[in-house]
Amino acid sequence: MKRIPIVKQYVDNIIENIISTEERRNAYIHAYGVAQCCSIIADKRRLDSELAYISGLLHDIYAYFTGSHLCHAQSGADMARVAIKRMNIFSDDEKKIILSAIFYHSHKELIHDKYDEVLKDAETLHAFLNTSSFNLFHIDVPRLNRILGEFEIIVKPIENEMKKGTSVKKAFKRSEFADIAEELAAKNICGERDNNIYMDIIKYYPEASAFDELKNSWCAAFVYHCALRAGIELPIKQPPFKYRFAGVGTWYEWGKDNGFCFHDNEDFIPSRGDIVIYNNIVSPENKPENSPWHDHTGVVLSCESEYLIVAEGNINNQNVSGIIKRKRDGTIGCFIRIPDDYKYNDYNSDYKEYLTTVI
Ligand SMILES: [Fe+2]
Repeated sequence: MKRIPIVKQYVDNIIENIISTEERRNAYIHAYGVAQCCSIIADKRRLDSELAYISGLLHDIYAYFTGSHLCHAQSGADMARVAIKRMNIFSDDEKKIILSAIFYHSHKELIHDKYDEVLKDAETLHAFLNTSSFNLFHIDVPRLNRILGEFEIIVKPIENEMKKGTSVKKAFKRSEFADIAEELAAKNICGERDNNIYMDIIKYYPEASAFDELKNSWCAAFVYHCALRAGIELPIKQPPFKYRFAGVGTWYEWGKDNGFCFHDNEDFIPSRGDIVIYNNIVSPENKPENSPWHDHTGVVLSCESEYLIVAEGNINNQNVSGIIKRKRDGTIGCFIRIPDDYKYNDYNSDYKEYLTTVI
C-alpha cells in the first residue's frame, strides 16, 4: 500500500490553502525538507524511514492550518490523530510513533523516544541545511553539533552562544483576558459562516465537521479564543483530558487538576477575568438526556453583590455572543481563576500512554 502519497495529498491540501505565496512556498520547503531529513536519519539509525518521513510531513500541519505556532506541536498531534484515524492505513503502534513525534517536536531541549528524536534532529538538520544564518535557537546548537558529528559533516562546530532565542512570549494576564472577552462579547457575534469574527473564534478546530459540531455549543470555544489572545499557551487538547478545550467539561477538569478551581463562598469572591462554569443553567427540556451539570461558561467581567456580569459566547443557546447579568445562585457551579503569567507545561505527560486512551 502506498501510504506516503495519501499523507502527501492531505498535507498538500492544507499547504495549498495558505494565502501568502511566500509562506506557502516556505511551508512546502519545510514540510518536505524535514520529511526527507527524517527519512535519512531513520535509515542511518536502522529505524522505519517511511514512518519517520510521514511524521516529518505532518509535523507542522497545525501551524499551516491556523497560521499560529502557539502550541502547534501539541495541537498538531491532535489534528493528525483525527486525520490519520480517517486514513485508516496505520496500526495503533504506528499511529503512536507518528503522533508522539509530532507532539514532542518543539521540545528540542529534552530527549524522548527514538522516533521523537529523529524528527527533532531532522528539523534541526534541515534548518542548518536550508539557511546560511543558522536560524536556530541557542538551545538547538548542542543538538546540531551532535547530528553533524553523527553524519560526519565537517564544519566548524557551531558555538552555543552564537544564536540566542529572540522571541519573547507574551505572558497571560487575567485583566487582558477579560478586556478581550468584553470587547468580543459586546459585538454580538453571530455563530454563522459569514461572520468572520466567529470563524476566527472556531479556527482552532481543523476538521471540516467543526462548524456543525460547535453550532449552538461554542461558549467554551469563545473562552478558549479569548484566553489564547490574552497570551495563554494551551493546545486544543491537553493530556490527560479526553476532550478539547471547546468543551466546558475540559475547562472544569483542567481547572481542578491545576488547583485553579474555586467555589463561590466567603473565602472566594469572583472577580474580573475568572471563568465561570455554570451548573445546569440550561433548562432540562433544552438539554439532551444524561448531559453533565457543567453546561455553559463565560468570562466574569464584574461581581456586584448578588449578580455577576459575564461575557459569553452562545448566550442562552441563541448562537450569539453578549454580556449578561447572572444571579449568584445554584446555577453557578464554580470558577476557574488562571494565575497571571501561567506557563503551559507538558514535560511530565506521557503522551504515548495517553494515546492508548484516545487513539
Ligand atoms: Fe514545528
